[in-house]
Amino acid sequence: NWSMHNYIDMQIEKIRAQVGTDKVLLALSGGVDSSVVAALLHKAIGPQLYCMFIDHGLLRKGEAESVMETFGRNMKLNLTKIDASKKFLDKLKGVSDPEQKRKIIGNEFVYTFDEEVKKLAEGENIHWLAQGTLYTDVIESGTQTAQTIKSHHNVGGLPEDMQFQLIEPLNTLFKDEVRQLGKELGLPDEMVWRQPFPGPGLGIRVLGEITEEKLMMVRESDAILREEIAKAGLERDIWQYFTALTNMKSVGVMGDQRTYDYAVAIRAVTSIDGMTADWAHIPFEVLSVISSRIVNEVPHVNRVLLDITSKPPGTIEFE
Ligand code: XMP
Repeated sequence: NWSMHNYIDMQIEKIRAQVGTDKVLLALSGGVDSSVVAALLHKAIGPQLYCMFIDHGLLRKGEAESVMETFGRNMKLNLTKIDASKKFLDKLKGVSDPEQKRKIIGNEFVYTFDEEVKKLAEGENIHWLAQGTLYTDVIESGTQTAQTIKSHHNVGGLPEDMQFQLIEPLNTLFKDEVRQLGKELGLPDEMVWRQPFPGPGLGIRVLGEITEEKLMMVRESDAILREEIAKAGLERDIWQYFTALTNMKSVGVMGDQRTYDYAVAIRAVTSIDGMTADWAHIPFEVLSVISSRIVNEVPHVNRVLLDITSKPPGTIEFE
């Protein structure tokens, strides 16, 4: 893509002129935007870029590994992984109210981010912070939702004694252009075409109280769903798809044993922007494979349900 090629060259020149020999810090989430910023900055300033990846323990199966693999081992970025999962799970222990869970995860994320950024920036003498802000974020930044979502899941409020200068190299681009840019920069397809994933992660896909065991059930069932959707070649047709662990237990039978275990729900939607959505009409044969794999392979799950609610009146996530 020729125009993207030019865009990259222009941006590289601009970034180099802007930061000179200074160091830049970026919080990588594994999402499309921060991944593309990482690849672009790496191309522009190489070892002057420092990336930080916070694992809150609420990520999907293989997600942390794939970020470390792509950016650490393959691209050889300066990448620090912060494993904060124990802290998050401790804070969430015994909490079952959705809003309270979101609040705890959001606050803990901002707190962890601030603390770690401060440590890393002071140690390495970094004064620049890169962000994957898009053009749509810029025009929407006046609205309440965009601000709330941003403050929780992108950068958070930085400590007041830390004065960073911001670099936002995607702030003139739309999402589809960001994907093109990522492709041009050589990012793997599964990263460029990654489906949206909420900041609170699996924390809002385990309904009610969160435990390690329940997280395992969502992780494993979700991995099976993603695998079968990919096998069926439906990845690009469905806007977002995942499993959620309901907090319903029901009776089943396994061999000649009675079981009393959890039900997993499949949620898959078609949408343009997430504001409205329809449930995705996944072929029955595909659903049938997914269902039998989940009950056979995931411990403590004995039932699979399909969510056939559109948005509105439903939401995409369960909490
Ligand atoms: P709902 O459930 O509101 O979701 O229909 C609409 C889209 O937004 C995502 N989502 C979130 N993203 N932080 C995020 O960054 C959040 O707290 C959050 N809640 C929902 C959801 O995955 C869907 O794509």
